[in-house]
Amino acid sequence: MKNKPKILLTGAGGNTGQVIAAELQKRGIPFVVMTHSESNKARFQKQGMEVVSGDFDIPETLELALSDIEKAYLVCTPDEKLVARETAFIAAAKRARVRHLIMCSAYLSGENAESENLRSHGLIEKAVRESGMDYTIIRPVGFMQTFTLFVWDMVQKANAISLAAGDGGMALIDVRDVAAVGVKVLTEPGHAGKVYDLTGPESLTMYRQAEILSKVLGRKIYYIPSTEAQMEQVMKVLGVPETPSEHVQKVFKMQREHRIEMVLPTLQELGIQPTPYEQFARDYVSGITQGGNSFPAPDTLFIRLFNAFGVFMVRMQVNQTKRREARNAGA
Ligand SMILES: NC(=O)c1ccc[n+]([C@@H]2O[C@H](COP(=O)([O-])OP(=O)(O)OC[C@H]3O[C@@H](n4cnc5c(N)ncnc54)[C@H](OP(=O)(O)O)[C@@H]3O)[C@@H](O)[C@H]2O)c1
Repeated sequence: MKNKPKILLTGAGGNTGQVIAAELQKRGIPFVVMTHSESNKARFQKQGMEVVSGDFDIPETLELALSDIEKAYLVCTPDEKLVARETAFIAAAKRARVRHLIMCSAYLSGENAESENLRSHGLIEKAVRESGMDYTIIRPVGFMQTFTLFVWDMVQKANAISLAAGDGGMALIDVRDVAAVGVKVLTEPGHAGKVYDLTGPESLTMYRQAEILSKVLGRKIYYIPSTEAQMEQVMKVLGVPETPSEHVQKVFKMQREHRIEMVLPTLQELGIQPTPYEQFARDYVSGITQGGNSFPAPDTLFIRLFNAFGVFMVRMQVNQTKRREARNAGA
């Protein structure tokens, strides 16, 4: 009888998990993916992956999924159930005698951190550290895929990014680089007890991101700074629940206040060449990378009308900016 693989991946349909799964598969390293979604289960099986059903909300399924596993990668949708779900997984991993747990947390997490999401990660990190298992905590800053693709519709329809980031910078990271760290930890010794804070290679303002997108797309993309209230509406339209929405607002507040501009050398120290934003944008446009946020946007008439109104408003702001630029050029 075939032995069960010793590596379990959660979130294998998500941002980091799908890249880790593809890389392990490419290298011929046996692993099993856990999913709570029947459609994902069928998709993973079609891709030739070994799949086990498991739901963070049903602890019995976790223990079964984790039996005979040595290393597990833990990641979950960042909503209000994050702590309950991930601590249930940690407890089940402990009962199943998993040797090494790899947790995807977030940069600046802590029990007294600024957003509910970061405080939740702080609590989960504590549970991981106190579990008695070997652990590695991966703490990435915002993903290029998430923080760009959630406004991609606006880029397409209004040639603009409209976010409440002021003129502050952030060193967004490509999910492929976060996944590369996950693959290293899952396949190499020497990472137990380590906490890896990760950023991308360059802190970019939204003005600079818009310039890079203009270069990649071959047409001018504008950055239109928005207000917190407008951001909140955008999150609603995208179907983002309250907890991650509050988190994104806090991240943009830190960005506006120039408090999240650090560039860390962790990826290079681990032998990973960080992906520049321009490369991410080119790869997205050519279909080489994907991802985004893990919440499906509601598709109702109200939301469609609201979305169309938002695009109209941003287009008006873009036209105002163009007129101002033309006046300044003529002056
Ligand atoms: N996105 C960012 O910019 C960013 C930046 C830094 C840190 N983070 C952190 O990274 C983590 C992941 O966020 P993400 O947005 O990138 O999400 P994601 O990894 O794209 O998706 C989360 C995964 O959770 C799984 N899941 C959800 N509910 C489940 C359940 N009840 N049982 C089993 N699996 C379940 C889903 O898998 P199935 O549907 O296949 O079961 C899904 O693939 C979060 O902790 C977040 O705070 C995110």
